[in-house]
Amino acid sequence: MKIAVLPGDGIGPEVTGEAIAVLESLALPGLTLFQGDVGGVAYKRHGHPLPEETLAMARAADAVLFGAVGDPSCDALERHLRPEQAILGLRKHLGLFANLRPARVFAGLEHLSPLRADIATGLDLLIVRELTGDVYFGAKGQRVTDTGEREGWDAMSYAEGEVRRIAHVAFRAAAAAGLPLTSVDKANVLETSQLWRDVVVEVAAEYPGVALDHMYVDNAAMQVVSHPDRFGVVLTGNLFGDILSDLASAAVGSIGLLPSASLGERQTAYGTFGLFEPIHGSAPDIAGQGKANPMATILSAAMMLRHSFGLEAEAARIENAVALALGDGVLGGDLGGSHGTAAIGEAVRERL
Ligand code: IPM
Ligand code: MG
Repeated sequence: MKIAVLPGDGIGPEVTGEAIAVLESLALPGLTLFQGDVGGVAYKRHGHPLPEETLAMARAADAVLFGAVGDPSCDALERHLRPEQAILGLRKHLGLFANLRPARVFAGLEHLSPLRADIATGLDLLIVRELTGDVYFGAKGQRVTDTGEREGWDAMSYAEGEVRRIAHVAFRAAAAAGLPLTSVDKANVLETSQLWRDVVVEVAAEYPGVALDHMYVDNAAMQVVSHPDRFGVVLTGNLFGDILSDLASAAVGSIGLLPSASLGERQTAYGTFGLFEPIHGSAPDIAGQGKANPMATILSAAMMLRHSFGLEAEAARIENAVALALGDGVLGGDLGGSHGTAAIGEAVRERL
């Protein structure tokens, strides 16, 4: 079971370090870890945020555990050399089109949410975000118009095949969990969204047991913080999913708690090849201080055991240990607590 660990920038090395320690404490036989450079740190060492050898290591692995990328000192670089291109490149090159971002308020931890407790209680949803298309990967550029004005532009598009395959992922997840499915778009304004909606309706015919509704993204943002209990599985595109998943994480209480899985079609001997990462970024302001909450990365490692290695019981053990630690008041600075990275990692391992 080969895992490529790509810690990346900022707090990435700290949080992946704790996740690795959790994995190692499970003493799973046959687990081998490889480490590679990615992001700003890779640019500084190799001249590229996603060096060939890192991509090759990821391809050769059964799963990738990813920290974070982003480094303010790289902001002035040409776009293709910026740290963010590493994660976008990995997603694209590895065909990881399906991003699963579960967000739930842990029972008894409603007080961590900035939402009123009676509202927060109902927050338990899965965002299924398309990850390799949309305005993220369309043509883009800057130009000077006829009037001499500078103009920036990014093309948004989805091909029906791209919508269909992510819709199937969301419908299968909703069917398996017995949950309703909400497809989020902006079909009142965007043609891309109109096609999205049409294709989702076509796919829905194959899942008669799943209750489907459609919602505009602005309304969805409002509903996530006012009536989160109305959501089960949320299916959406790359850009809207990026925004809604940060919103959902803030509603849970902290972005430091939310894991994610990015999956494609490739099957390995153990499960589905995937990349697993916290949804937070590199947090340069607190990097290297031992303050970052590693829980999102630890929970990402749990998702990896579940999806890429078929180790459901071990995944649940990690998730329970995190929930217990939170319940016992093991809170990072992101949640108003005073536990540092190492203390949180240790608290989780004690509760395994
Ligand atoms: C995320 C991040 C990335 C994204 C950035 C780092 C490119 O915000 O994973 O949500 O926009 O997808
Ligand atoms: Mg994001």
